[in-house]
Amino acid sequence: MLIMETSSQNRLLIKNGKIVNDDGMEDLDVYIEDGIIKQVGRNLIIPGGTRTIDATGKLVMPGGIDPHTHFELEMMGAKSADDFYKGTRAAVAGGTTCVIDFVLPQKGQSLLEAYANWREKADGKVCCDYGLHVGVTWWSPQVRKEMQQLTTEQYGINSFKMFMAYKDAWMLDDYDLYCAIETCAELRALPQVHAENGNIIARNTEKLLAKGVTGPEGHQLSRDEEVEAEAVNRACVIANQASSPLYIVHMMSRSAVRALQQARARQRHVLLGETLAASVGTDGSHYGNSCFRHAAAHVLSPPLRPDPATPQALCEALADDDLQLIGSDNCTFHEKDKELGKNNFCKIPNGVNGVEDRMAILWQKAVNTGIMDPCRFVAVTSTNAAKIFNMYPQKGRVAVNSDADLVVWDPKLERTISAATHKQAVNFNIFEGQHVVGSPQYVIVNGRVCLDDGELRVVEGFGKFIKTAVDSPAVFGSAPAPAAAPAQLDVSHVSNGSPSPDLGNMT
Ligand code: URP
Ligand code: ZN
Ligand code: ZN
Ligand code: ZN
Repeated sequence: MLIMETSSQNRLLIKNGKIVNDDGMEDLDVYIEDGIIKQVGRNLIIPGGTRTIDATGKLVMPGGIDPHTHFELEMMGAKSADDFYKGTRAAVAGGTTCVIDFVLPQKGQSLLEAYANWREKADGKVCCDYGLHVGVTWWSPQVRKEMQQLTTEQYGINSFKMFMAYKDAWMLDDYDLYCAIETCAELRALPQVHAENGNIIARNTEKLLAKGVTGPEGHQLSRDEEVEAEAVNRACVIANQASSPLYIVHMMSRSAVRALQQARARQRHVLLGETLAASVGTDGSHYGNSCFRHAAAHVLSPPLRPDPATPQALCEALADDDLQLIGSDNCTFHEKDKELGKNNFCKIPNGVNGVEDRMAILWQKAVNTGIMDPCRFVAVTSTNAAKIFNMYPQKGRVAVNSDADLVVWDPKLERTISAATHKQAVNFNIFEGQHVVGSPQYVIVNGRVCLDDGELRVVEGFGKFIKTAVDSPAVFGSAPAPAAAPAQLDVSHVSNGSPSPDLGNMT
């Protein structure tokens, strides 16, 4: 039950900090009332009795937006351990104030029914605001109609995820993928793909098992970089044929990034790429660990890569705008669930932690090393997600009238990441033992101080569902949608090369 706070508790002044937005930094104070930023400036005149946070030496940034989580997801015979309470509580602890989870219908299940299930699971539990993407895991005229319904004001969905892997579960063949992407283009919704070649993975898995390779090391061996890069390229080609923008989730390798760069050079529509905290924060060497629990805990798809240059290359891709954002793909499983694959790597439920450590890991790997500046950090952890998923400038910006979702970031705060102290539901952390410098000191969710000088004070059910409208200007440009559906055969896609996505001019 939510207890209404007295009005003076609904007012907050953050003084003496340095505000960081994606396009600049400035020493300014921020005044918040009733969950909204009301004033930004110096020498603000504010009501008496307002709580003041002194942010001297700290950065005041938009709260993180994690565009990729899976809370309470049933997959591969198990259910992910972080539910919408524990998952969003961990998010807030790490500086993230909004997550976007995936509704994933079973094959044959109504998308509307799955959407209703997800809202029911999440609404009463979330500690911060959240949005939803919807998976298109099968194809039929009904699915097409439900996609249209989901993009209306009533449901508030503007993105759909399709899988090119998980054969016999969520995978679509190329014909169905083309239909789904084409439908997104007609609806001015953003198609997202999980890019891996599911047929190659299936055959490689058979061959590895026949040779007696049953342990977690088989996971990476069955799906190397080429298997990811091929699917990235194919997804881009299909999107081009459908005259559609495209968003590739969880890009895990240098080969995949190269494939996206090459497609961008020849295609007209916006192509967006997301990487993960896991892939910038650790690597595929863990699959060789002789401890099953340890190796299996790192199993996600696409997998972590053995190439030790991968984490730095992905940070550089984020810095250079080859990739636009970083998510967590948080999908944690208890040890007993990972053990479903004890004798067969392809039965290990796929997923890792990251929702809590995403911001600190990227800060450590990319800002502390000089690969990116704090403005780009804000862009890839928050603002770009807000723009792409049409939540901007309500979210993703420190500015008057934006939601008071803020992080007071202490760039000097030192800590060591550990399952012993994290807030996630599982007792394993893929970043165990990593020393990071830079973490949140205060996290403000809709004006409420939910991390208070390091003390976590979240409220279950305090968050709300954010409906997102289609036709995001960051994806489809600012020109009005054409009256006729655009996804007929369109000869213009054989043209001069697409712009690198321009997420910069939207203030
Ligand atoms: O291994 C992963 N990524 N698990 C979550 C499901 C998905 O493919 O995103
Ligand atoms: Zn995926
Ligand atoms: Zn171990
Ligand atoms: Zn995922």
